[in-house]
Order: sequence, then structure tokens, then C-alpha cells
Amino acid sequence: MNSAKNAPNQAKLIPEMGLKDKNTFGLESCAELAYEITAADQLRELFQTIHDQNLPWRVLGGGSNVILPERLPGVTLLMNIQGQELIDSDDQAVFISVGAGVNWHEFVSWTLEKNLPGLENLALIPGTVGAAPIQNIGAYGVEIGEYIHSIEVFDSIAHGFVTLSQEACQFAYRDSYFKHNPNRFIVTRVFFEIPKVWVPRLQYGDLAKQFEDIDGIPPSAEEIFVSVCKIRTSKLPDPKVIGNAGSFFQNPIVSYAQYEILIEQFPQLVSYPDEPQKRKLAAGWLIDQCGLKGATVGPVGVYKNQALVLVNHGNGTAKDILDLAQLIQNKVHQTFGVPLLIEPNIL
Ligand code: EPU
Repeated sequence: MNSAKNAPNQAKLIPEMGLKDKNTFGLESCAELAYEITAADQLRELFQTIHDQNLPWRVLGGGSNVILPERLPGVTLLMNIQGQELIDSDDQAVFISVGAGVNWHEFVSWTLEKNLPGLENLALIPGTVGAAPIQNIGAYGVEIGEYIHSIEVFDSIAHGFVTLSQEACQFAYRDSYFKHNPNRFIVTRVFFEIPKVWVPRLQYGDLAKQFEDIDGIPPSAEEIFVSVCKIRTSKLPDPKVIGNAGSFFQNPIVSYAQYEILIEQFPQLVSYPDEPQKRKLAAGWLIDQCGLKGATVGPVGVYKNQALVLVNHGNGTAKDILDLAQLIQNKVHQTFGVPLLIEPNIL
């Protein structure tokens, strides 16, 4: 046995760990070495070994936004730092500290139990609190970045901990500073700032429809939470039943000039306002119009209720998924002249 590889913590450095049940796509994958992080201070010692042996590494949170290859060389860090607590409050807001390994949906439920509304539109998004800021998770008109005060990370280059402010995280649509600096930071703790004044966020079409008959009386945060869970359950496949990684493509952002040409040709085109002179298109609609909703290619396919979601019906591999993605990208490009960007991280 290679004793140096086990130096940081013999008990927890696990060789040849299967990851099929650790990624929501349910892809067969094996980590050469796996290491469970339950406390941030394990990282200094672990990264000493990683640097000394020049080992490749990556972090796996809930595995809900990744496409795993059959084999992951080096060390796969399994993030499992738990714990959430109210740490401070002022006239404007309440501040919460949450471990990176906490399940996102359980955290959202906990904030509502503590009577701290704000995150209810983000209910039922799979994954962990630590992974959520990387792609700036968003749903029903709300993005997590708006509620983040700062993030504690381990900087693998400086070999120490740093706290990044919300501004430093450079949040944008499905984007952050972390996405532009891959393989450098490990999120260990997220600090949330929840404003004390709560206003329901109901502008998003599907959600607005649920509450349009209730004249004058705004719904409670709990009612919105229940409603979001209902919409998501009806449209998105449960990863425990059918493997998937949520939206597989980003909604493409095009210039206003290109949008005007497209709307002329396709009057039903679904789109939303974006930055000035830009328009965000519904990728699900584009794929649906190409006749690909519900399509099956070998063991993988396009989900029958939401064309933006690719599914693994059984024994699909990363290659099967990426081949299908390429077919969809080609078809959408031929039909609409719009490139689609893959959303999950391809490891
Ligand atoms: N549409 C179709 N056919 C389809 C799918 C969608 O015509 O098969 C049309 C719908 O009619 C709707 C529009 O496209 O008018 C948008 O669809 P939907 O409301 O389902 O939202 P989306 O744009 O497909 C985005 C996020 C989701 C998030 C929802 C709700 C991205 C990439 N995806 O999906 O996020 O839950 O909005 O806010 O921005 C995820 O990132 O994993 C995810 C599920």
C-alpha cells in the first residue's frame, strides 16, 4: 500500500470508490481515491499530500450538476461539512452560517421553520449549499447570489482560507467567479444575509399563474414554497427515479438584432428581457420545436415533460449523454442559428 497517499487521514482516504449513487445522473464512475471532508481544517493536510504527490483533484457535493467519466484519477473530495446557525442580526437582516455539505433543500426548509422567508422560490433544487454558489442556482425569478453575504473558501494555490465578499463572487446568470477559476477554490462555508423585510417574488410565469386568483391577499412564504415544490415535481424528473442533472443547457442570451430576426420567423418564440440590447431565449422551447422532446437515443434521452432536461434511463455513460447533447446542439443550431451551452460541469 502507498502509505504517503494515506498520510492525511488513513481511515478516510478510500481507494476505488464507486460514485454511481453519488451523482444524480446515476452514471457509473469510480474514484481512484475518495476523501470525505467533515471539517474545513482537514483541507490543509490533505492539500499538502495532493501538492507533494501532484495528484489531480476535484470536489463532489450533491453530484447534481456533474457529468462523471468512468474513472476519476487522483483524489475526489466528498464535501460533507454540516451545520447551520444564526450568527448575527441587525436592523436590516439576519445572518446565517451554513456548512458546504448541508443539503440545499433542507436548508431552505430550515429557514422557513425559523421564520426567515426569502429562499422559498429556490425550494427543491437538488445539491448542496457549497455547490449552489458555483453556478449561482436560480429558479422562479430568484438567484442565490442575491442572498449571499460572503463565502469561506480554501484557496488551493495560496494554501489557506479566504472569505470572499458577495461582490468578489461576481454572480451572474448561472455564473460566478468560481466558474472562471476552476480547480482553485473549495467552498467550505456560506454566509447568508436574509433581509428582515420580506416581499413575495411572484413575477415568474408559472408561479404567477398559481396565485392569480387570490385577489389582493399575498401568499405566505410557506405557500410559495409548497407551490414551487409542486411545479418542480410536475416538470422535472426525480433523480431517485430517473437519472438527470436538471437543466442540461443554459438558456442562450442573444443580441436584440438576432432576436428580432428570430421572432419574425418564429412568432411563438419564448424569450425574456435580459441585459440592455440582449434577449434570453427558452432553450427548452428551442429543443421542443426541433421535435426532440421525449426522444430516446440508446440508454439516454430528452425528458418527456421538459426538453431542457436530459435523462439516463438505465446504464448510460458520460459518452452517451454527450453524444445526445451534440445531436441536440447541432439540430438547434441548424434550425435557429443559436448555440447551446452545456450547463453541468463535465469532469
Ligand atoms: N418550454 C417548452 N418546451 C419544453 C420546455 C420549456 O416549450 O419542453 C417553454 C415553456 O413553455 C416556458 C419556457 O420554455 O415558456 C421556459 O420553461 P420553464 O419555465 O420550464 O423554465 P426553463 O427556462 O426551461 C429555467 C431554469 C430552471 C428553473 C426554471 C424555473 C435554466 C437553464 N433553467 O428553466 O433551472 O427551475 O427556469 O425558474 O435557467 C436547473 O438549472 O437545473 C433548473 C431546473
